[in-house]
Amino acid sequence: MSKVLTHDMIQEAAKYIESQITTKPDIGLILGSGLGILAELIQNGVTIPYGDIPHFPVSTVEGHAGELLIGEIEGRTVVMMKGRFHMYEGYGAQVTAFPVRVMKALGVTTLLVTNAAGGVNTAYQPGDLMLIQDHLNLTGSNPLTGPNDSKLGARFPDMSDAYTRRLRTIAQETAAAHQIPLQEGVYAGLLGPNYETPAEIRMLRVLGADAVGMSTVSEVIVARHAGLQVLGISCISNMAAGILDQPLSHEEVMETTERVKDKFLRLVLALIPQI
Ligand code: 6GU
Repeated sequence: MSKVLTHDMIQEAAKYIESQITTKPDIGLILGSGLGILAELIQNGVTIPYGDIPHFPVSTVEGHAGELLIGEIEGRTVVMMKGRFHMYEGYGAQVTAFPVRVMKALGVTTLLVTNAAGGVNTAYQPGDLMLIQDHLNLTGSNPLTGPNDSKLGARFPDMSDAYTRRLRTIAQETAAAHQIPLQEGVYAGLLGPNYETPAEIRMLRVLGADAVGMSTVSEVIVARHAGLQVLGISCISNMAAGILDQPLSHEEVMETTERVKDKFLRLVLALIPQI
């Protein structure tokens, strides 16, 4: 069995972070590839490298910094992960979601997750933003396997409102008020690290997926287990394989997230005071 991250380890990580800050965050932010620019808008921020936090893994992938930022945005105190942990890096599902446990221990009640995702729905275009309505956990793993610590959550957590309906309504209303087009759809989370084949994308479409990516689902499963409310936004960075007659690349993902960052930022900044 993979290494178990215990309640004590979560508390140790949270205690260390608390020793570095004087505020108490109630919103957690996990930002995907190329979307970390929000960090520049944090005021009175404290930066803590992941390597300094007890039991925290260290991120390896290009385009992801590895630090936690705690500070103020739009009048709210947030804790932001700049760079996240992916299962394709070799981390177990439980490890990728450890920071969510720590956020909960710090007092976070709402988690905002973002990611770059491939468009599976052919009506989507690169650069679209998609509110995550629901997900398909197709990673082949689950962060809640193993003994359940009832201090952390229920053995069999309900996932019928995984992406909090109330927050989705707020997101749609806010996007409309700011004239920011916002798709809403189902995110399929896969292990990666390769992008899918055209046949896999056709399969995902049949299964009800609108977008596909390599993150988010383990974090959201743990967030729901921990009783956090969740809001998720995907940036459609490219169309998935077999839709356009062109190869997929990480460069395209980074280019698109760069191109839409202002729109993305406006939406997230408008949402933060309301969630
Ligand atoms: Cl097409 N697939 C996956 N799995 N992740 C992605 C993606 C595609 N585009 C961005 N991230």
